[in-house]
Amino acid sequence: MDVEALRRDTPGIQHRIHLNSAGSSLMPTPVIEAVERHFRLEAHIGGYEAHDEALADIEQSYADVAELLGTSADRVAMTEHATQSFVAAISAIRFEPGDVIVTTRHDYVSNQIQYLSLADRFGVEVVRVPDAAEGGVDLHAMEETIHRRRPKLVAVTQIPTNSGLVQDVDAIGTMCRGRDILYLVDGCQSVGQMPVDVERMGCDFFSATSRKFLRGPRGAGFLYVSDRVLQRGLEPLFPDLRGADWIDADLYQPAPDAKRFETWEFAWALVLGTGAAARYATEVGLERIQERARALAEGLRDRLPEIPGARVLDQGPVLGATVTASFDGRNPVDLVTALRKRRINTSSQTRIDAVIDYDAKGVDGALRMSPHYFNTEADLDALLDGLREIVS
Ligand SMILES: Cc1ncc(COP(=O)(O)O)c(C=O)c1O
Repeated sequence: MDVEALRRDTPGIQHRIHLNSAGSSLMPTPVIEAVERHFRLEAHIGGYEAHDEALADIEQSYADVAELLGTSADRVAMTEHATQSFVAAISAIRFEPGDVIVTTRHDYVSNQIQYLSLADRFGVEVVRVPDAAEGGVDLHAMEETIHRRRPKLVAVTQIPTNSGLVQDVDAIGTMCRGRDILYLVDGCQSVGQMPVDVERMGCDFFSATSRKFLRGPRGAGFLYVSDRVLQRGLEPLFPDLRGADWIDADLYQPAPDAKRFETWEFAWALVLGTGAAARYATEVGLERIQERARALAEGLRDRLPEIPGARVLDQGPVLGATVTASFDGRNPVDLVTALRKRRINTSSQTRIDAVIDYDAKGVDGALRMSPHYFNTEADLDALLDGLREIVS
């Protein structure tokens, strides 16, 4: 990997050391240009006219996202963000009282809130599978729970927002496929950080956002939808005129493909930016991206104990590019502010971002540091120097 060339493509690094790709990464030049070009076109010729003019590029964006995910363009719906993808997907499932959702202790906070809301409104039971001793969901317990409880949906966040854990979503997919159970993977943190293959995963839905490790723009995301979902006639609860045709006074017909999960109004500039980000990641190479991002994260985990009072919180058989740590007597929010004054970007997580995980670890939150492939060892040195200074 030519890191220097990739850094030249990343204007943001001139101003900051960015260790917050788990929050929102730095866009590379081709993404910035794709977004800016379309906004300018809209300003010059009109929004609807710009859309028509950019149609071939828009179609290419679907194809590029599809390639990134290992699927075809007609199985991809563009959305505004990962939670929108997740909500559209989950709204397609006709939950009834007594239905079971099987999930993990590490699923994303908003997803957990939404499972609880479904429990409240529809009488759904939410079952969280326990963790294995080494961290991450216990796969034997997962298999046993799926077998015994016959859930209507299994939903797993591949990489949580609040720790470096990487869940084995392929193994869980095999369990679901063998029993024909709907399977949703939240890939918000994994897409752009590691290779993703929705076919191998065997998932029915894969929800993601553009701004994180994929390095796309904010305010854009996407959803993969499997053949099974379409064959079963699943459709979102609130389709609009893009997701469906109103063909008679009392009849509408959902779009034949994943577009049934889309709504009409889009920031097309951001869709084009998402396509450019997918293309860029594919060109850099997801295997290489994963290798470098994980190596930087691992190096950081090894060195954090040099800082007085630091405790690395990540647990699991496989760890990704997100590093979380607590610091005795230090509030992570204050650490983020102090680091930002030194032009180092990180982010903080508080207890309510992950009540189950943080209560189990006995912490109120964590400092989240998420290096990406464009970061360097020197960035990590600066972070550690900054932390040492702040805590001393
Ligand atoms: C694992 C995970 N899922 C979902 C989301 C929600 O993404 P968005 O804010 O784009 O809806 C996040 C955001 O941090 C996340 O980390």
